Amino acid sequence: MINKKKYVVAICGASGSIYGIRLIKALLERPCHVIVMISDGGLKVLEHETIFNAQSSFLDFLVLEGAKLHESATLEIFSQHESCAAPASGSFIHHGMVIAPCSMKTLASIASGMADNLITRSADVCLKERRPLILLPRETPLNLIHLENMTRACHAGATIMPPCPSFYTFPSNIEQLCDTVVARVLDHLGVEHDLVARWSQKEQ
Ligand SMILES: Cc1cc2nc3c(=O)[nH]c(=O)nc-3n(C[C@H](O)[C@H](O)[C@H](O)COP(=O)(O)O)c2cc1C
Repeated sequence: MINKKKYVVAICGASGSIYGIRLIKALLERPCHVIVMISDGGLKVLEHETIFNAQSSFLDFLVLEGAKLHESATLEIFSQHESCAAPASGSFIHHGMVIAPCSMKTLASIASGMADNLITRSADVCLKERRPLILLPRETPLNLIHLENMTRACHAGATIMPPCPSFYTFPSNIEQLCDTVVARVLDHLGVEHDLVARWSQKEQ
């Protein structure tokens, strides 16, 4: 596992679990180690918004979603309660954590340094260790508390990347639309990809 990049992806209980799923799928199509964390709320929304069923395997679900897993890709999955998982310690080195989607509750916990479950603790560790932490906060409209929590998390070192899809590449289905967001997350993690065509003025 020495040369493999390691990424943490957490799915929380905001709408838009498809963003986390598309990101995990994209990472597992490369020789990466992906550590997935799903909050209790995230599990509920995931079951509601996708065909995922908690009784069945997450990997089988990803394959049903069209994932073509890289032969060296590896996956670990944790609930929010498994607070002894490796990313809860700063001594475990990884290459970035993404919370996609990030609920206002988890955002608030991170902004106030609560570290009260595996996801918020791992995010807190990223901030103290100066490792990439990318949040995809999802709510609308946003109240002042949400906005202030985003500002606070941003000041502490998080990248705030609301899942706002773009339309200039003419996505023709929901997956392509979501990938306009996932592509930007991969860019920030430094993962090469060709999920979405890049804007180039010359070609216009
Ligand atoms: C169908 C559904 C959609 C939800 N969408 C959002 C949302 O978009 N943003 C949000 O902040 N909370 C949303 N919630 C509420 C969160 O799931 C709830 O606040 C939960 O406690 C978040 O906990 P977690 O961050 O630990 O997953 C939604 C709940 C449900 C059932």
